[in-house]
Amino acid sequence: MLNKNHKAGESQDHQPDDYQVQIDKLTSDIQSLEKTNESLRSELEQIKKEQITYLQNVSHQIVAPLHAMKMHIENLRYGRIENPERVRKVLRSIYSQATIAVHLSKNFSLMSNLEADQTLAAQREPLEPVNLKKLMINLADDFQPSGWEKNVHVTVIDYPFETAPPVLAIKNLIGQVFSNIIENAVKYSYNDTEITISGKYNQDDTVTVMVSNIGLPLIPEEQGLLFTRGYRSKEAKNAYPAGTGFGLYIAKKIVEIHEGKILAYIDNGSIVFEVTLSVKSLEGKAMHREAKYNSNRG
Ligand SMILES: Nc1ncnc2c1ncn2[C@@H]1O[C@H](COP(=O)(O)OP(=O)(O)O)[C@@H](O)[C@H]1O
Ligand SMILES: [Mg+2]
Repeated sequence: MLNKNHKAGESQDHQPDDYQVQIDKLTSDIQSLEKTNESLRSELEQIKKEQITYLQNVSHQIVAPLHAMKMHIENLRYGRIENPERVRKVLRSIYSQATIAVHLSKNFSLMSNLEADQTLAAQREPLEPVNLKKLMINLADDFQPSGWEKNVHVTVIDYPFETAPPVLAIKNLIGQVFSNIIENAVKYSYNDTEITISGKYNQDDTVTVMVSNIGLPLIPEEQGLLFTRGYRSKEAKNAYPAGTGFGLYIAKKIVEIHEGKILAYIDNGSIVFEVTLSVKSLEGKAMHREAKYNSNRG
């Protein structure tokens, strides 16, 4: 209660006006705290809403390929498909749906891990020499079946990629960077087009990988937004209503943890995603595992 009149017996150290000034100040402080509180509350509400939408979106996206796989397996199991060529097609489709489901689940778990552990040293997995060309060939194989229906092909160009040395990276994380980029390239490519993946070794002891495709337009003003959490272009939303807008955000986070660079640009009508990683500069910055020369997955 604000009251200018002071009661008898109050301390005589302060003049009544002093109290009023203090009370006014307190009142205004309380009002501004209330405002801050209110805006924090609405921010929290917004974040909660985003989280729910994200969860719904992710579960919807993971359920869809699992459901498709289940249907295909049921059809095979009950002998509904006998033609050997059809059987092969169904198996390819199961493989492709499984690839998508694994890919999405990995993004989902990375999403929470990366928000918590933003440094290389905090990651649970070690750095190791990664042969990016091998990794690209394996990812191209994984995503190729998703492009079959659109007649979209993924090609890894040998030269000069084959001359690039391995980069030091956390293999699973770097795999997810390129998996996100290639999955987009297949998803957003026009029918009957080619996706090309090339690579080169640079003088500053880094390796650059370029993934290029022809498809949904990239408006110049969007170029900077692509890596923002949750961003999806209008065109992408129209063409593929289900999507999280988290793939490139995760990719950028992982590349940044590796002190690398990631960018998108347009070159001759193609959209190019370019990732540059260092061969040695991360040495000693995290757990380290020696090269496994018998590995055939990068
Ligand atoms: N290869 C591409 N061609 C055209 N647009 C792309 C491509 N890759 C990404 N984009 C744009 O960047 C946005 C963000 O991509 P991403 O974070 O992977 O989310 P999502 O694929 O779930 O939409 C996409 O919605 C799309 O607008
Ligand atoms: Mg994506």
